[in-house]
Amino acid sequence: VYSNWSDGYITEIEYTANFYRELAPTHFAFAALLGLVEAPPTDRPFTYFELGCGHGVATNLLAACHPDATFYGNDINPSHILSGRQLAAEAGLSNVHFLEKSFAELADVTLPPLDFISMHGIYALISDDNRRFIVDFIRRRLRPGGLVYVSYNAMPGWSVPAALQRLVAETAERATGTVGQRIEHSLGILERMLTGQARFFAVNPVLKPWLDGMKGQDRTYLAHEYLCGNWHAFYAADVMREMGEAKLSLVGSVLPIEMFDDMTVPPDLRELVRGITDRALRETVRDFAINAQLRRDIYARGLARIDPAVQRERLLTLRLALNRTRELCTNEFNLAFGATLNVEPEITTPVYDALAAQPRSTLNLLADPALAKIGAERLLRTMITLIATGAVQVCASPEGDAARRRTTEAFNRVVIERAQSARPPRYLASPIAANGVPLDPIDGLFLDACRKGRDPIGHTEERFLAMGRQLMKEGKPIADAEEARRELEARYRTFYERLLPAWQAIGIATDLVRAETNPVRAAG
Ligand SMILES: C[S@@+](CC[C@H](N)C(=O)[O-])C[C@H]1O[C@@H](n2cnc3c(N)ncnc32)[C@H](O)[C@@H]1O
Repeated sequence: VYSNWSDGYITEIEYTANFYRELAPTHFAFAALLGLVEAPPTDRPFTYFELGCGHGVATNLLAACHPDATFYGNDINPSHILSGRQLAAEAGLSNVHFLEKSFAELADVTLPPLDFISMHGIYALISDDNRRFIVDFIRRRLRPGGLVYVSYNAMPGWSVPAALQRLVAETAERATGTVGQRIEHSLGILERMLTGQARFFAVNPVLKPWLDGMKGQDRTYLAHEYLCGNWHAFYAADVMREMGEAKLSLVGSVLPIEMFDDMTVPPDLRELVRGITDRALRETVRDFAINAQLRRDIYARGLARIDPAVQRERLLTLRLALNRTRELCTNEFNLAFGATLNVEPEITTPVYDALAAQPRSTLNLLADPALAKIGAERLLRTMITLIATGAVQVCASPEGDAARRRTTEAFNRVVIERAQSARPPRYLASPIAANGVPLDPIDGLFLDACRKGRDPIGHTEERFLAMGRQLMKEGKPIADAEEARRELEARYRTFYERLLPAWQAIGIATDLVRAETNPVRAAG
C-alpha cells in the first residue's frame, strides 16, 4: 500500500479530487472577524499556500477567484501535482504554482512571506516528524498577522470509532487484491462483527450507524482515511500546543456556526463552557459537549484585536449572497443537539427575495422600507444567524468583480468541458462569492449543452446514460429509458427555473441568456 517515498502515506490509489468551501480566504477572514481578530486583506494581492493539496482543485479554483493573489500547493504524489498543473494550464491560470515536494523538502524552497497557509485532511494522517516539518514551515514562512487553517480528526468524537480504524487497517494490510478489494474485505469483517454481536459493538451502539455510513462512502476516501500509516485523532489542547511552537494562537472555527455556543452547545452546558478561562481547557470541554469529530480551525500569528464597533461596521458592509436556490430557503434550521432554530419570516422573506435578485450588504438591505423598520441590530443578528446556518454566504468585496469574472469564467469553461469525463468536477467558481459552488454532474452536462447550443436532454442522455452511468431517483437507479427521459426533463426544468438564476446572481454562467435555454424550446 505504501511506497518508500511517501513516508507511510498511501500512494497506491490517487486521492479523490475534492474542494472544500471552508478553504476560501474569504472564509478565513470572516472567521477572524467573528473572533475579533484582524486578517490579511483579501481585496489586495496576498499569498496563500495549501499544504498537501492533492489534485490541486481547491488551489486552482481559489486562484481563479483571486487573480491578484499568488497561490502555491505542494504534494508528495507526482500524479497529484501533474493534475493540478494540467488544470491550471487549461484554465490559463498564471498565479498558481504546484511543487512536487514533501513537507520535509519545503524547507529548501524559496518563497515570499505567506499570508495564508491551509491544510485539509493532512495533520492527523501523517507522522510526528511530518507534523514537526509543517510547524517549522509555518514558523519560518507565515507573516505576522497571517492565518493558518488546519482540519483534523478530533477527540472525543473519534474515541470509539478509532478502534474500527485500527481493525480496518490491520485486516486490509493482510488481505490480497486491489485497495478497493481489501477495503471491501475489511468492511465485510466489520459487518460480521456487528451481526455476530461482538461485545465491542454491543456496548458501543454508535458503531452501527458509523459502519452504515462507511459502507456508503467513496472507497478511495476510505482508503486514504483508514489505511494511511499514521492515523491519529487529536485533542484540541494538543494541537494548540503544537501550533504554539509556530507562535500561533487559536482564533476559532472556520465554520461560523461553531463560533456561537448558543447554536452548538447543549443549553445546560453553556455556562460551564463560558466559565472556563483557560482557552485550551475550554476548547477540550466544549469538544466533549458537542462530541467533536472533526475540527476545522483558524490560527493567527499574533492577535491584532479588532474593536467591536469596527467589527459591527465591517459586518454591516460585508456583501452577502444566498447559498442555495430561493425555493430551498427556509425559516427553520435543525441544530446538532436536537433543537430547532426559527428565524422570523417577516425578516427573512424580504431578505431572501432581495438576495435572490442580487447579492448585497446588510447596510444595503436596510434601504428596503420593510427591513428598515426591523432596525439595523435585529437585521444584523438575523444575517449572522443565516450565515451560521449556511442559508447565506459571505462574498468578496465588489471592487475586484470584473477581474474575477474573467478568470473564473475561464476556470468554469474547463469544469464544464470536463462534465462529460468519467470523473466530472464537482465545483464551479463564483467571482462574487470568490468561492466554489457545488455542481451536480447532470447540471454540468446541461450547462455544456447550453454552451454548445445543443438540446440539453438529448446531449445529457448521450453523454451520461450512453457512458453506462445510471440516473438515480430517490437513491434508486432508473432502469426504464422513458422514465429516465422524464426525469431528465424534470431536472432540466429545475436547472433552468431555479439553479441558473441562483448561479447568475453570483456571477456564474452569466453569458447564457435564459430565453435561449428555455426548456419548452429545448423539449421541442
Ligand atoms: C487525505 S489527502 C488530502 C488532500 C487534500 N488536501 C484534500 O483535502 O482533498 C492527503 C494528501 O497529502 C499528501 N501527502 C501525504 N504525505 C505527504 C508528505 N509527507 N508531504 C507532502 N504531501 C503529503 C498526499 O499525497 C495526499 O494528496
